[in-house]
Amino acid sequence: MLIDAHCHLDDAQFANELDEVIRRAADAGVSAIITAGVDVESSRAAVKLAEKYEIVFAAVGIQPEHAAAFSATAFSEIRALAREPKVVAIGEIGLDFHYADGAPRAAQERNFAAHLDLAAELGKPVVIHDRDAHRELMEILARRNGAPRGILHCFSGDLAMAHAAIELGYLISFAGPVTFQNARALQEIARQAPLEKIVIETDAPYLAPHPLRGKRNEPANVARIAAKIAELKNLPLAVVQQTVRSNSIACFGF
Ligand code: NI
Repeated sequence: MLIDAHCHLDDAQFANELDEVIRRAADAGVSAIITAGVDVESSRAAVKLAEKYEIVFAAVGIQPEHAAAFSATAFSEIRALAREPKVVAIGEIGLDFHYADGAPRAAQERNFAAHLDLAAELGKPVVIHDRDAHRELMEILARRNGAPRGILHCFSGDLAMAHAAIELGYLISFAGPVTFQNARALQEIARQAPLEKIVIETDAPYLAPHPLRGKRNEPANVARIAAKIAELKNLPLAVVQQTVRSNSIACFGF
């Protein structure tokens, strides 16, 4: 039994095919899928999908790329969605300094802080997106002393950052990139991080794991991430599956 801790089922790439995508996931042993919003509209869509499919749960929030759209009105809608019964997390939220013409850093930090406060207020975990913002992100998380708890989705930092995040109480989430053939550093992190601190995700429709790299990804493929972690850690697959599943359940409180 697997849990896909992060994906985007509202993506247009799944349109008209979602019933089959969900069925294939269930057939692959996936018992829960968390679909994350990136703005108000997709957060609304995530909640609708969670209402429609029993195994789907939602995370709601405004992703850093959309931080410029942050407003009192937008955030009050996120706040209302966050109280829906199948919303298990606030996300994805965080910092993204990858694109020079992305949302201004100050706007990103304001947006991120508002969502962290909301998660703390509601006692829900956060799903954190971090791209090329490792130092700034860790400073913010350290200042808050690891509250609210949550996962670093599609972890892309180095080993020292993984240790620091774990020390603060965060879980490290591995997606397709850990299976890529040139992903030596990330694989070393998966080897060294305690299994009790790891969750797995697909980030579908993005980041399809090896050997499907470049294709449209889907939650059924989370089984491939579990297999890769088991291989890297030289542990029985069943042990990895069970442990990362209980890590997700403890974090998201299904
Ligand atoms: Ni994502």
